[in-house]
Amino acid sequence: MGSVVVMGTQWGDEGKGKIVDYLAEQADVVVRYQGGNNAGHTVVVGGEEFKLHLLPSGILYNGKTCLIGNGVVIDPGVLLKEIKGVQARGIDTSGLKISNRAHVIMPYHRLLDEAEEIARGDFKIGTTKRGIGPCYMDKNSRCGIRIVDLMDAEEFALVLKRNIEAKNRLLKCMYDMDGFDYETVKAEYLAYAEQLRPYVADTSYELNESIDAGEKVLFEGAQATLLDLDHGTYPYVTSSHPIAGGVCVGAGIGPTKIGKVVGVVKAYTTRVGEGPFPSELHDAVGDHIRERGHEYGTTTGRPRRCGWLDARVVRYAGKLSGIDYMAITRLDILDEMKTLKICVGYTYKGQPLNEFPASLKVLAEVEPVYEELPGWQSDTTAIRRYEDLPLNARRYLERLSEAAEIKIGIVSVGPRRDQTMILHEMFA
Ligand code: GDP
Ligand code: IMO
Ligand code: MG
Repeated sequence: MGSVVVMGTQWGDEGKGKIVDYLAEQADVVVRYQGGNNAGHTVVVGGEEFKLHLLPSGILYNGKTCLIGNGVVIDPGVLLKEIKGVQARGIDTSGLKISNRAHVIMPYHRLLDEAEEIARGDFKIGTTKRGIGPCYMDKNSRCGIRIVDLMDAEEFALVLKRNIEAKNRLLKCMYDMDGFDYETVKAEYLAYAEQLRPYVADTSYELNESIDAGEKVLFEGAQATLLDLDHGTYPYVTSSHPIAGGVCVGAGIGPTKIGKVVGVVKAYTTRVGEGPFPSELHDAVGDHIRERGHEYGTTTGRPRRCGWLDARVVRYAGKLSGIDYMAITRLDILDEMKTLKICVGYTYKGQPLNEFPASLKVLAEVEPVYEELPGWQSDTTAIRRYEDLPLNARRYLERLSEAAEIKIGIVSVGPRRDQTMILHEMFA
């Protein structure tokens, strides 16, 4: 079957954008199914770097059909800026369509995101402050505004009025903050509506037509398994479903239409924001990885927390999404390391744990079980065949594969398209 899901297995920033861009060459359609502009996917093409937040990474192939599904939350001002930004760099965005069922991020969502973070104090989540959580909250409490509502000026005026009155009360009473002026927001958003109108479609309908016609579809996850609302390190998660199951709801297709699932795994672990991270390094090794890997957020510029590769996390991701193959990225960042550690499991109060702990208290107290492996201490960035990787690099990858119980499908040794080794064809 011609559809492939590419999703994150850790805490995000695994290099999903690079892998999607690589595989998109063979795809007819590329689809984002969840999240919003909390995502930051960096793609390097022909020496140029593109930082994408809402646009599917397939956009860099001129005219390719790129869908933003109903499960995504869209900040119209941000999307329009991004469209204009890539257009100014010569990219043809005529293949872009956005779901009429996607929810719209409003200015009060962004302010509430910030206000709620401040109110949480020491228990803050460390969100991207893009209004993602509050927008999904409105969707779930059935008062949200969808793209289809924004396209209808009369309907929009009505739902906006109800929402602004309620949110202004909330901002005043709960947070002692000034609210928003109805007319100003209405005018701003109706102007966006006219610019977005040409892109609006029933993307689920179109996607199913494409699938029925035998086209190849690539689904691009944002965030990652451990940030999944149900299965991640709750409450230090995002408000959507990055796991492969999220594709069905967020794009509007049936599970029988998913062919393969590719889990992107960074060759070590990083996390931005708060929450437990069992294999985190607080020493010079962590600093070395951060500096060599330029591990600073694409969206917020925050330094990323760095740690050893946690195969227990990857195994958990593999089970939750039925991952067929791993795409392992950033192996080259480890090129200088003398020795490496892989976490293959956890113990809690001296006992091995079978399940991935639901309790954050437990997760914060688990002891990682590490295996130490020798590094390869040579440059891998010019290597193009798996067999040509240093023996110790292959041992490292194969130990991960064994411990995570997932086959290796792709290995990446640099941000460029050509720095990619394919062990299994994903669209075969
Ligand atoms: P995403 O959010 O999962 O798409 O990942 P990000 O784009 O936030 O972070 C991954 C970063 O690593 C980007 O800057 C990519 O260009 C870069 N990248 C991807 N694969 C590789 C790789 O194999 N080696 C190196 N050195 N960089 C890579
Ligand atoms: P990509 O797609 C890494 C994190 C935030 C915070 C938590 C909740 O580039 O991998 P939110 O703003 O979503 O309510 O924040 O999730 N987070 C990410 N971390 N990569 C991302 O996206 C992320 N998107 C959200 O740092 O901890
Ligand atoms: Mg990112």
